[in-house]
Amino acid sequence: MNLQGLYGAVPLAHYFFRERLKAGDRVVDATCGNGLDTLLLAELVGINGRVWAFDVQADAIETTRALLAEKGYAEWVTLVHGGHELMAETVDEEVMAVVFNLGYLPTGDREVKTSAATTVAALDAARSLLLPNGLILIAVYTGHDGGGDEWLAVKEWCERLNPHQFNVWQSRQLNRSERAPFLVVVEKVAPTPSLSEKHR
Ligand SMILES: C[S@@+](CC[C@H](N)C(=O)[O-])C[C@H]1O[C@@H](n2cnc3c(N)ncnc32)[C@H](O)[C@@H]1O
Repeated sequence: MNLQGLYGAVPLAHYFFRERLKAGDRVVDATCGNGLDTLLLAELVGINGRVWAFDVQADAIETTRALLAEKGYAEWVTLVHGGHELMAETVDEEVMAVVFNLGYLPTGDREVKTSAATTVAALDAARSLLLPNGLILIAVYTGHDGGGDEWLAVKEWCERLNPHQFNVWQSRQLNRSERAPFLVVVEKVAPTPSLSEKHR
C-alpha cells in the first residue's frame, strides 16, 4: 500500500478488490477513465478471468488500452467505448464485482461526467449481473455541478435494496470535509444453506 494508505474512496475500493477478488473472476469497470482501476482488476483476475471496461470518452478507452498493453493484460479485457447503461446488453456472464468511479476525469474533459439517470440504469444492470458475495463499489463525488443530484439518486437506489439480499455500506472519512469523495459498498448476500443441505 502507498503512503496515502486508505486516504480517499479509490484506495478503499482497491482494498475491497484485493480482499474479495481472485484469479478467474469476471468483473466490470463501469468508468475506466485513465484505466487505473481496470489495470488492478485485470491484474487480480488474471488471464483466466475477464474484465469489461466502459467509458464514453474515446481518449479514456485509448489510454486504458495502452496501459493494459504495456502490462500484457489486454487479452482478457474487453474495452467498450460507450455508456455503462449498455452493461446489460454487453456483459454476457455473471460477475463478482462492478466498479463505478463517478464524476469526471480530472485529466480529461470535465464536462463529460456521469449522471443520475444513466448511473441508476447501470446500477440496475450491475445488480442483475452480480453473483452471491459479489460487490458493487461506487466512489461518489458530490462537489461538482450535478454531483449532489447523482448522489441522491444513488442513495435512493441503495435504500430500496432488500436488506435480506444486499448489505449496503456508506464509508466516509469523518475527519475530512463533507464534500470529500466517499465509497458505497453493495454486497449481494449469499443464500445460507438450509439445515438439510448442511447435513447432506
Ligand atoms: C472519475 S473518472 C474514472 C476514473 C477511472 N476509474 C480511473 O481509474 O482513471 C469518471 C469517468 O466516467 C466516464 N463516464 C461518464 N459518463 C459515463 C457513462 N455513461 N458510461 C461510462 N463512463 C462514463 C468519464 O468519461 C470519466 O472517464
